[in-house]
Parts: sequence; structure tokens; C-alpha cells
Amino acid sequence: MTSLSDTTAVVSALRAAGCVFAEDEAELILATARTPDELAAMVDRRASGRPLEHVLGWAGFHGLRVLVEPGVFVPRRRTEFLVDQALAQAPGASVVVDLCCGSGAVGAALAAALGDVELHAADIDPAAVGCARRNIAPYGGHAHAGDLFDALPATLRGRIGILAANVPYVPSGEVGLLPAEARDHEPLVALDGGGDGLDVLRRVAAGAPQWLAPGGCVLVETSERQADGAVEAFSRAGLATRLAVSQELYANVVIGVRP
Ligand SMILES: C[S@@+](CC[C@H](N)C(=O)[O-])C[C@H]1O[C@@H](n2cnc3c(N)ncnc32)[C@H](O)[C@@H]1O
Repeated sequence: MTSLSDTTAVVSALRAAGCVFAEDEAELILATARTPDELAAMVDRRASGRPLEHVLGWAGFHGLRVLVEPGVFVPRRRTEFLVDQALAQAPGASVVVDLCCGSGAVGAALAAALGDVELHAADIDPAAVGCARRNIAPYGGHAHAGDLFDALPATLRGRIGILAANVPYVPSGEVGLLPAEARDHEPLVALDGGGDGLDVLRRVAAGAPQWLAPGGCVLVETSERQADGAVEAFSRAGLATRLAVSQELYANVVIGVRP
């Protein structure tokens, strides 16, 4: 594609490629592209099946524009419910950790809402850590690489007010059933939660009590089907546990509080 100069041409190209929301996507692509060449390249990338957010380089999340680099999990709208639950549970939190941070969208949203906080984000995937570092920089955040709690500075032990952990939770056998945009363009480590999808969640639950401040909370997202197992893992770790559900966003969040 060499020249795409108007909305109609972009909409047509996206529609021909099967984009259901071609008009909305065209508007976003046209507003983001800085040159005609960039516009053509973006339309080609989208038409070839890349997630819109990877094409744009950003995603809207909880009122923020979050950078989303290639190979990094695209923050989902339903995860805004986890952010809202964290803010409701711990409105005065001063130490916030975004574990399994991906782009760092959750940590950035929490810091934007809470104001002056000590913010840390961590992920096992170096691409995610780099992206998160850029997204949390405006809030003075620190980004760390490593396996779950191993990535965190020891000074955080027993001090965390909000531990948000949007872990991978798709059962291994169901990753192949995900939409191609996720399956082909988001890393497996961001999706695959093990046999029943709860492997990483159980490790977060088991480790959280040592890292939370008294009264601090840990929040994970899960599916409706996995919710009982997730609540059980949190309760077994000694956390005061409840499940919050948003029918509107189709979101289930397990919240555990250190007594
Ligand atoms: C579902 S994505 C969520 C990303 C981000 N929190 C969000 O909501 O957009 C899960 C993230 O967990 C990370 N991850 C998976 N296993 C991990 C582990 N053992 N330690 C740290 N991060 C891990 C993946 O790299 C991925 O970025």
C-alpha cells in the first residue's frame, strides 16, 4: 500500500482485512500516524493481524495513554476493575507494587490515582520491564526484572500496601483457543498459567503475606471458572479473602488482605 490519504481509504483497507471496528480504528490510526508513509505502514500492520495497540504503540487504560511495545501484553479494559478494587481497598496506600507488570499499566494507573507513592513494577520478561520502566517513569517508579518476588528489593518486605498481580491465568491447554491477536502477538509467558491456569497465582498467594504490610492487600484477576480455586489459594495463605465481580467488564478479582 503506497498512499492512504483519507479516512475512507483507511476504513476500506481495515474492513477488507476483517476489522470489525474499522471506523473507530481508522480514526485512531489517522490520529497517531505522523506521515503518509507511517500511515500506510500502520494500516498494513493492522491488516496483517497485529493488535491495534501494537500498531498504535499505545493503549488507553484507566484514563491514561500507556505505551505498549511489540511483544508486550496489551492491557485489557477489564483490568481497570482490578485497579478500582485496589483503590477502594487501600486508598491511603503509600507503597505499591505491580507484579507481573507487563507494560506497567496497572502500576501507572494506581500511582496516577494515589498521588505520592513509592512505586515498583516487576516482570520476568525483559521486553515488559523496559516498557514498564517508560510508563512508570512519570511517577518516579522503579522497574525490576525477575521471577515474581525474586525481582523485588528486599527493602519492600513487609511494607507493601497494594500488591497488584495480573498474573497469566489461561490454562495451558486453552492457549491455542485464544484469538490470533493474543496467540500470535503476545508472549506465551504472559498468557499461560499452567495446567489449571492457577500456577502463578498460587505462587503469588503463597509469597504475598511476607511482602505485605499489616492491612496491605494483594489483588489478582481470574476467570469466573477459576474463582473458587483462586479464593482457596488466597485463604490457604492466611489472607482475609473476598471475590469482587464486575458483570459489565466480565472481570473477577480476588482480594486478599494481610490480617
Ligand atoms: C496477563 S499479563 C499482565 C500484564 C499487565 N499486568 C497487565 O495487566 O496488562 C502477565 C504478565 O506476567 C508476566 N509473568 C509471567 N510469569 C511471571 C513470573 N514468574 N514472574 C514475573 N512475571 C511473570 C508476563 O511476562 C506478563 O507480562
